[in-house]
Amino acid sequence: MSKTFYITTPIYYVNDVPHIGHAYTTLACDVMARYKRSRGFEVAFLTGTDEHGQKVETAAKANGETPLELADRVVKRFQALWEKLNCSHTDFIRTTQERHKHTVSEQFKTIIDKGDIYLGEYEDWYCTPCETFWTETQLIDGTCPDCGRETTKLKEESYFFKMSKYQDQLLKHIEDNPDFIQPKTRRNEILSFVKEGLRDLSISRTSFSWGIPVPGNEKHVLYVWFDALTNYISALGYPEDPEGKFEKFWPAIHVIGKDILRFHAVYWPTFLMAAGVPLPKRVVAHGWWTVEGQKMSKSLRNVVEPNMLVDKYGVDAIRYFLLREVPFGLDGDFSHNALVHRINSDLANDLGNLVSRSTAMLGKYFNGELPEAGSPTEADQALIDRFPAALQKVDELLEEMAFNKTLMAIWELISAGNKYIDDTAPWALAKDPEQKERLASVMYNLLESIRLIALLVAPFMPETAAKIIEILGGDSSNLNLEGQDQWGGLQPGTQIEKAKPLFPRIETE
Ligand code: MSP
Repeated sequence: MSKTFYITTPIYYVNDVPHIGHAYTTLACDVMARYKRSRGFEVAFLTGTDEHGQKVETAAKANGETPLELADRVVKRFQALWEKLNCSHTDFIRTTQERHKHTVSEQFKTIIDKGDIYLGEYEDWYCTPCETFWTETQLIDGTCPDCGRETTKLKEESYFFKMSKYQDQLLKHIEDNPDFIQPKTRRNEILSFVKEGLRDLSISRTSFSWGIPVPGNEKHVLYVWFDALTNYISALGYPEDPEGKFEKFWPAIHVIGKDILRFHAVYWPTFLMAAGVPLPKRVVAHGWWTVEGQKMSKSLRNVVEPNMLVDKYGVDAIRYFLLREVPFGLDGDFSHNALVHRINSDLANDLGNLVSRSTAMLGKYFNGELPEAGSPTEADQALIDRFPAALQKVDELLEEMAFNKTLMAIWELISAGNKYIDDTAPWALAKDPEQKERLASVMYNLLESIRLIALLVAPFMPETAAKIIEILGGDSSNLNLEGQDQWGGLQPGTQIEKAKPLFPRIETE
């Protein structure tokens, strides 16, 4: 049996244009997808768009277009951005696609046939921007506890899902599977939420029509979250599974922002329990980005547009920055200063210099032809031994999605490489013909270190990794660690060109 890995992003609302917050979730998934591929896994990586619901209907009306016209227009912006950011998703789902609508209807039928959905009447406070109902006690001064905006009292006929029935089963699942919800602090929030008691959930609306009709009662459309969450299995072809993808890839790891954890860690698992589908492997919630210390919002006109950043700084610099700057579960602040600082110090100075110094010296001392290494000295061995340890560490850290620590571990290798240059002082060795062999070893060890470093950074910075592997005379279409992660991969005799700067320094005002 081949090893498989299934990772998903949330599906993005089409009533907003993509910003760095969205890019962050997708990039985190992309790094995981690329790393797992590099380790020999067959990967399914899903992203897409959430196109139904009152918000989209309202936004479309305001623009004088149909909801589908709006979706068709905005979906292109997401797709173009993912391409620009080098995202390697294997599927893109839109909730308006037939394949999705089919699965959602089937899911509804399965659960109603089981007796876990019933028709009732709903009365509560509804926040339209959040598409969420709140009880009287949850409101803060009559406004939505999530976004602070006005809520309205709604009473309507509605289908209800018996979520309360699954409270104990869900609690047990969370308690028995400590990694089900990550990070821990978020897991605790969900545990106390579930312990407070689950109410049955209203899962249909009659107040608007832009949605998937309830099978057998077309007056109702399904609640957007019942619709949206199902994307994770509709993309696999559930329930018929004609291509065997569901069988092969489910269950998934869901990566989401902290604001939508409850939907993923409470609603979704209980829907799945009712439908008799295994629960996701993990739900991982990341923090939120502010911009220069402020919440990102259209009204503050401070929305950071990833396209502009990529044009200005390059795609790999942005990928690196977003995943290096803050621990994945915590909130972070985006600032141009911090970004420029990271580019200049980590990328231009540390990584860029290691590559340019090493290749320049090889050019100067060996006409660019990689020499053979002699038997290692203690210092050589210390450098060489770092690699198996770092590879192991990176594997463990990425398992926890500790992206920043992973990059720190890789950067320790880069620093060790730079320090090795300073300690061995190749320019001094080059002056003494008797030290030619020693110089050869130093050059080999440096360039071989760079090869392994390139493969390690590849999931984060695929373009840079490919460039480095090309400089080393390797095949940049294969950046896999599997089969290439042992010391000694570079062949003596290889002609290696002097590298152009990988990351030009950015002048600061
Ligand atoms: N459509 C729902 C998800 C349905 S999944 C079945 C949705 N869409 S969204 O477009 O509003 O948000 C998508 C993701 O972007 C969420 O994970 C959210 O946390 C993330 N972010 C939106 N703004 C963000 C920041 N400022 N910072 C980090 N992530 C943010 O919710």
